[in-house]
Amino acid sequence: MTRLIAPFLSLFLSLVVAEPDPAFSFGARLLDPISTGIETANTTGSQHVGIRRESFAFEDRQLNVSWWYPATSEDNAVPFTNAGGLVGEAVLDAPLDSSNGPYPLIIFSPGVASWDDSYYFFLQNLASHGYVVVSIKHLDATKAEAKANPLALAQAKKYQEEQNGSYAVWLTYSWWFRTTHEGLKYRPQEIGFVIDKAIQAASDKLSPFHGNIDAENIGMAGHSLGGFYTLLVGAGMAVNCDYPMTLKEQNLLNPILTEVNFCAWPESRNFSSPTDLHDSRIKAAISLAPPVFIKPSEITRGANSIKTPLMILTGNDPYFESTLKPQRQLYDGAAGPKYKVEINATNHMLIADTYQYNDELTANVPAYLKSNFSAKADVYMTYSSAFFDMYLKKDDSKKEVLQSSSSPLVAALDYSE
Ligand SMILES: *[C@@H]1O[C@H](CO)[C@@H](O)[C@H](O)[C@H]1NC(C)=O
Ligand SMILES: *[C@@H]1O[C@H](CO)[C@@H](O)[C@H](O)[C@H]1NC(C)=O
Ligand SMILES: *[C@@H]1O[C@H](CO)[C@@H](O)[C@H](O)[C@H]1NC(C)=O
Ligand SMILES: *[C@@H]1O[C@H](CO)[C@@H](O)[C@H](O)[C@H]1NC(C)=O
Ligand SMILES: *[C@@H]1O[C@H](CO)[C@@H](O)[C@H](O)[C@H]1NC(C)=O
Ligand SMILES: *[C@@H]1O[C@H](CO)[C@@H](O)[C@H](O)[C@H]1NC(C)=O
Repeated sequence: MTRLIAPFLSLFLSLVVAEPDPAFSFGARLLDPISTGIETANTTGSQHVGIRRESFAFEDRQLNVSWWYPATSEDNAVPFTNAGGLVGEAVLDAPLDSSNGPYPLIIFSPGVASWDDSYYFFLQNLASHGYVVVSIKHLDATKAEAKANPLALAQAKKYQEEQNGSYAVWLTYSWWFRTTHEGLKYRPQEIGFVIDKAIQAASDKLSPFHGNIDAENIGMAGHSLGGFYTLLVGAGMAVNCDYPMTLKEQNLLNPILTEVNFCAWPESRNFSSPTDLHDSRIKAAISLAPPVFIKPSEITRGANSIKTPLMILTGNDPYFESTLKPQRQLYDGAAGPKYKVEINATNHMLIADTYQYNDELTANVPAYLKSNFSAKADVYMTYSSAFFDMYLKKDDSKKEVLQSSSSPLVAALDYSE
């Protein structure tokens, strides 16, 4: 067991080199791009894909995003290589293909420390099915450090042994999560700002997306920390704070950050209602491998508020994936329509292909978790595109796809319409 535990935590622990704009990183940890120039999984949709990078000014900083969109093909077009060295099919600044537009919009929020272009196969694939996708480079993508006090690190190790991986990573990053109040200081704000900008682009004559975004049909997807915020912002999970908290839960300086109640952060105390963070413009949500930062005994009640169509899409590896138990509670509690798909022998980073195959970051991840990549990617692609087709494009024929196992690698499939 220890053989498995050590490499998992080592993914997140690192020496930190302070440099403002690294060429490629996992948070503040500098990384060399993949050395082998590997190709990611091919798209399954019928349209070609373009990618456009954009920098917005937000608060006191630059907020970068990538747009992934249906594009016309050009002879000899060279596919985009992302910062991490991964190659797919997207072509930088390719002309938009408006033939099937306007396209529903999907906002993508990555995991903590992850870059906007690091989910190459997943994002290009949605675009190939006729979506305009905007992925966000959140503040943590260059700033988050895996830093924690020794007590927290010791507890993280215990959690890992107990197959409580979400709590282990939460503690490993406790300096960042404490500083940013579990992300409440910037994640909802950045997501809301990017949704506003994307909707504005739909009617801005100067934008390349003018007239090609269907702003009435907006979806959201997110991975890990972004998967948690997808639950709050996209799906409408409630944060109920109407109960007395223990002193431990209220102590913001508690060295074991996982014991601090989400409701103790000043932002939660300010919520006008338990679903204050919910953005009702979002009509469908996919949460990829979410950890859950609210108190376990409150998850079911929080999930009871979820009325937006929701899919939880995750790997099932007990050591290297987010914890399945709270995901089951979320699924059970949500009103529906809802889906839960688990992919066999799949870990936390596979969906973030650029990190999964990075020579340094995941060098110690066992081979079985890296094997069968395109078959595993295919499961992610099949269910995510069918789900958004069903709920953003109202294509009821996709019900059949959503209700059947697409591959022997589908380890579990639950649904309720
Ligand atoms: C945003 O993108 C620009 C242009 O590529 C780059 O120079 C800058 O460092 C990026 N900023 C952040 C915060 O990632
Ligand atoms: C992706 O498509 C290319 C070109 O069509 C093909 O050469 C390659 O084998 C495909 N890759 C996979 C993993 O199917
Ligand atoms: C909470 O609300 C008060 C009053 O509107 C405001 O002054 C304060 O900045 C808010 N605090 C946070 C952390 O949002
Ligand atoms: C993880 O640990 C926390 C704190 O002990 C506990 O409340 C939670 O139920 C654990 N989760 C799982 C899935 O074991
Ligand atoms: C599922 O993964 C396990 C390894 O965890 C492997 O032994 C098994 O063959 C896999 N099943 C399928 C259908 O791929
Ligand atoms: C990989 O896929 C093959 C063929 O489907 C299967 O037999 C094998 O068990 C899979 N391995 C894992 C680790 O999932």
